[in-house]
Amino acid sequence: MKNQIGITRRDFVTGTLALVAGLGLSACASGGSTQTGDGSGSPQSAADDSGSSRGAEGHGGSHKVLVAYFSAQGHTKRVAERIAKDMDGDTFEVVPEQAYSDDDLDYNDDNSRVSKEYQDTSLRDIPLSATAPDSWADYDVVFVGYPIWWYDYAWPIRHFASDNDFASKTVIPFCTSVSSGIGGSGKNLAAVAGSGDWQAGQRFGEDASNGDIDSWVKELDL
Ligand SMILES: Cc1cc2nc3c(=O)[nH]c(=O)nc-3n(C[C@H](O)[C@H](O)[C@H](O)COP(=O)(O)O)c2cc1C
Repeated sequence: MKNQIGITRRDFVTGTLALVAGLGLSACASGGSTQTGDGSGSPQSAADDSGSSRGAEGHGGSHKVLVAYFSAQGHTKRVAERIAKDMDGDTFEVVPEQAYSDDDLDYNDDNSRVSKEYQDTSLRDIPLSATAPDSWADYDVVFVGYPIWWYDYAWPIRHFASDNDFASKTVIPFCTSVSSGIGGSGKNLAAVAGSGDWQAGQRFGEDASNGDIDSWVKELDL
C-alpha cells in the first residue's frame, strides 16, 4: 500500500520513483577541523586517522578545503567525514534549528513533517542554526553534501547555498541515497547559490565503502 505521496522505500530501489519525477522532482548531482552549525564557532577536525587510507594524501594540496553537509540519518555525515579525512579538510554540519526526528522523516506517513513539507513547498524554508563556519572566507574548495529527498537535494541544505557567497570557490556537490542518481540537484543548488564554480557532483549509496569514497576523491581534478 502506498501513501498519498505515492512512494515507498522499495520504490527507491526498484526505480518506480520515475513516476514521481513527473511531479517535478530531480535527483542529486551528485588533519583539519568539524564545526556543527550550532552557532558554536570554530570548525572541527577530521583528526581521527583510524582506517584512513589517506588515499589522496595531500590531495587538497595548497587548497583550503571545507566539507559542508546536512545529514538527517547519518549516511551523508559518514561520507562527509571520509572526504574531509582524505582531503585534509574541515567539516561543517548544517543543522536545522528544528531537528528532524525519526517520525518527522517518515515519508510513508502523509502527516509527517517531511510529507507536509514535500506537499507544500512554502514549508521548505528551513532556518539553520548557522549558515557557515566563521572561517568561511578562508576556503577555496567547498564540498556540499546532502541526502536525496524525493529525487532532489534535501531542502534543509538550501539555506547553506542561498546564504553564502561562493565567489572564487570551487564547489563540489555530493549526496547519498537509496538508489536515485546524481540528477540535477547539484545544478539546482548552484542556481540557488548564484555564485561559485560548481562542479559535477557525485552520488554515494547509503552504505558506500571508504574505498569507494577514497577512489572518487583521488580522481578529483583540483
Ligand atoms: C524524506 C525522504 C525522501 C527520500 N527520497 C529518496 C529518493 O527520492 N531516492 C532515494 O534513492 N532515496 C531517498 N531517500 C533515502 C535517503 O536519500 C537516504 O537514506 C540517504 O542516504 C539519507 O541520508 P542521511 O542519512 O545523511 O540523512 C529519502 C529519504 C527521506 C527521509
